[in-house]
Amino acid sequence: MNPNELVAAAFQALETAHAPYSNYRVGAVLLCSDGTIFKGCNIENASLGLTNCAERTAGFSAIAAGNTEFKSIAIAASSKPSPFPCGACRQVLAEFCGPEFTVYIARSADDYETTTLGELLPHSFDFRSTND
Ligand code: THU
Repeated sequence: MNPNELVAAAFQALETAHAPYSNYRVGAVLLCSDGTIFKGCNIENASLGLTNCAERTAGFSAIAAGNTEFKSIAIAASSKPSPFPCGACRQVLAEFCGPEFTVYIARSADDYETTTLGELLPHSFDFRSTND
């Protein structure tokens, strides 16, 4: 799936969001190294803190299905602002993805920004790190 298709799929994924509190629906599509994709949406809860972001929904679905190698993720939202992943989602992605992991953030259905996990989360916490 190319980046344009991935972004289009992220817009489809936000259709199943449960976001009655923020009214900000988010979709994310994670592309695995073998070409498999996993969709996610944000799932809010009346006790707000239990909300799960679209990125983590996609990531946890992939991990639970046995996929741990990822190439990229596309993220789309139902309205502005552009859905840059929150700090928690960046750290969750860093558990499985290196700094070169590509992140496509939709500005609209036909416009997206390309960045990497390394740019979004430099110096992520990592038990495997050899740094002091
Ligand atoms: N949200 C996401 O799902 N992903 C993002 O990248 C940004 C924020 C959700 C969480 C919450 O349901 C709503 O957007 C407002 O913060």
